[in-house]
Amino acid sequence: MSDWQSNRKQSAPAAEEPLRVVSLFTGCGGLDLGFEAAGCETIAAVDNDFEACKTLRHNRPEWNVFEGDICDYNPSMRGVDIVIGGPPCQGFSSAGKGDPNDPRNFLWKEYMRVVERLKPRAMVLENVSALTHKKNGDHLTGIMSGLEAQGYQFAYGVLNAADFGVPQARRRLVVIGLREGKPSLPEPTHARKHVTVRDAIADIDGEFDEDWSHTPPKHAAHVAERWSELGPGETDPNYRRARLDPDKPATTIRAGGGYGPKGNHLAGFHPPIHPFQPRQLTVREAARLQSFPDTWILKGSKTAQGRQIGNAVPVKLAEAIAHQVVGLLRAAEGRIAANEEATA
Ligand SMILES: C[S@@+](CC[C@H](N)C(=O)[O-])C[C@H]1O[C@@H](n2cnc3c(N)ncnc32)[C@H](O)[C@@H]1O
Repeated sequence: MSDWQSNRKQSAPAAEEPLRVVSLFTGCGGLDLGFEAAGCETIAAVDNDFEACKTLRHNRPEWNVFEGDICDYNPSMRGVDIVIGGPPCQGFSSAGKGDPNDPRNFLWKEYMRVVERLKPRAMVLENVSALTHKKNGDHLTGIMSGLEAQGYQFAYGVLNAADFGVPQARRRLVVIGLREGKPSLPEPTHARKHVTVRDAIADIDGEFDEDWSHTPPKHAAHVAERWSELGPGETDPNYRRARLDPDKPATTIRAGGGYGPKGNHLAGFHPPIHPFQPRQLTVREAARLQSFPDTWILKGSKTAQGRQIGNAVPVKLAEAIAHQVVGLLRAAEGRIAANEEATA
């Protein structure tokens, strides 16, 4: 496993109990893998996509996966340290049609309802940066006033995954809420030296492997021929798809959709064009660009796998967020212990 990919549980503090995480809108678990790497334990995961749940159960059979609508999720466990989750973003996203009345736009209210039930010490909410746009302002204000009403202080901002060692430019809104003190966002670790597409996928040549989500895409000969002539970063005008520049982080990997030659919207997985070959990326290559470990097996159809990967929080970004939150919670524990000692 390369340095820029996530290593499981690499920094779990040996002497401390793992912090307990409830994960909402878990998808294929990008955010969770980051928290796991920071020494946390996922005690429940919720998603209504059966193929994403299949991926979770395959890779982490020990996780308690609730497969269903979050509206029907009424947990009552105690001692939850952190609630994490990225509510659906299609309605906010500048990549989608952005329908303000899309019912998925309001699922953050379900996230806040679960936070209110579980009263975790901290919460992390991730979403597209477009949630900070004026037209989506009521949602962000709603989240912030909900947190205040529940006694959380919070910090929020847009982070670029590339600044955290992810070989991809991907800007995401991150909100961290904390009951015990004032939170802050993680500082970039790789702002001066980004990991590139070449670093991430150049070694994946050779055999295609369906079980590893590395299946050969089918393109018409004339399309492949046109793509073979594209330079790094150049866009194919017909399909509006760019060829990746091997010496930069990738452009944002999206969950699905793309454009046909007449500007028509296409269903399915339509990632960028490979930097060295005249074909689109495979799901595995896209997973690498999302900094998923090679051992994370994706389940479901190719479209479903692409959706899971394109929807995910890059694991390396998740890891930076998780380390920040764990650090804040451990510091708060230290302050409480010191106060108790002083007053004993
Ligand atoms: C942006 S993705 C989350 C990705 C995840 N945070 C990760 O890092 O892999 C949003 C997820 O919400 C799920 N979802 C959408 N509506 C839902 C609902 N009503 N109840 C439960 N899950 C839902 C989708 O299936 C999708 O997996």
